[in-house]
Amino acid sequence: MKDIKILAIETSCDETAAAVVVNGREVMSNIISSQIDIHTKFGGVVPEVASRKHIEAISFVTEQALKEANLSLQDIDAIGVTYGPGLVGALLVGVQYGKALAYSLKKPLIAVNHIEGHISANFIQYKELEPPFICLIVSGGHTFIVYMKNYGQFEILGQTRDDAAGEAFDKVARAIGLGYPGGPKIDKISKEGNQKAIVFPRANFHEKGCLDFSFSGIKSAVLNYINKASMKNEAINVADVAASFQKAVVDVLVDNALQACKMKGVDKIAIAGGVASNTCLRDTMISEGSKKGIKVLFPSPVLCTDNAAMIGSAAYYELINGRVANLKLNAIPNLKLGER
Ligand code: KG4
Ligand code: ZN
Repeated sequence: MKDIKILAIETSCDETAAAVVVNGREVMSNIISSQIDIHTKFGGVVPEVASRKHIEAISFVTEQALKEANLSLQDIDAIGVTYGPGLVGALLVGVQYGKALAYSLKKPLIAVNHIEGHISANFIQYKELEPPFICLIVSGGHTFIVYMKNYGQFEILGQTRDDAAGEAFDKVARAIGLGYPGGPKIDKISKEGNQKAIVFPRANFHEKGCLDFSFSGIKSAVLNYINKASMKNEAINVADVAASFQKAVVDVLVDNALQACKMKGVDKIAIAGGVASNTCLRDTMISEGSKKGIKVLFPSPVLCTDNAAMIGSAAYYELINGRVANLKLNAIPNLKLGER
């Protein structure tokens, strides 16, 4: 069978990214232009700035992706693009660019859900991986546990009722003076802290047979702890607070993910999204998983945070399952997992 080469585009938040992926698994190029330095000045992503920066970067990033893959536009078989969820203005840049490419090249346009892209990063990392498996998706905007039945078929077993895991990391990092983006900074400083120093609450809804998450309680407990210390004029130990907070979040993520494996009788769990690069999450998931005979998979850090290679992988499975978009495609900022 002929190889299928997909040029994928991702602009849902603050990374402008393009990649060429063959048959959903082989990455020929994966170019990411990050806007982190720009948004750091504002303490978080400024949507209008993000859109403007995507407009400036998209052509260059796409050219680089083709150049690195040693291909011309004519060699590409289809265009894959993220159309949601994400910031509407940011998504529109990629969607319109992808549509223009597909139209001018007369090639199929494939609409990709960003969260499904995160899951697919595991197909790139593990060439033999096939559904079914459990996937824990932990990013800046989303926290889900899904049973992935087949390519493009998901059953949501749990999701956050308030903050996403990455959002909680970012908010707590800001509160303890670590700045943006908070996840990697908490991860790093936690290595110098004692994760048992402070006991922050862990919420679960297991008695209702539900694997939902709630991180706002943990976040509020950290904020209360900081306020109390400040009222008593006491300095906090930032590394201890970070490590204890991180452990509380990780315990809940691991607990629910292993519970999901038990519920579905599955012995494979894949982690995805920006928070999947968290070292405490990886280590805890591996050690707790091994006690239950569960294999834990996670993509390399560059495939965990936003990138276009993961979109190229998800686009391939959409294409071979006959799901092709048309030129009416629009951005859907609140697109749900599994929605078409
Ligand atoms: O998947 P992603 O790049 O973007 C979204 O789709 O949201 O995830 C970004 C999130 C941010 O909240 C960031 O703080 C978090 O992932 N993150 C981490 C780590 N690296 C990135 N959180 C914890 N530990 C990390 N090492
Ligand atoms: Zn993402």
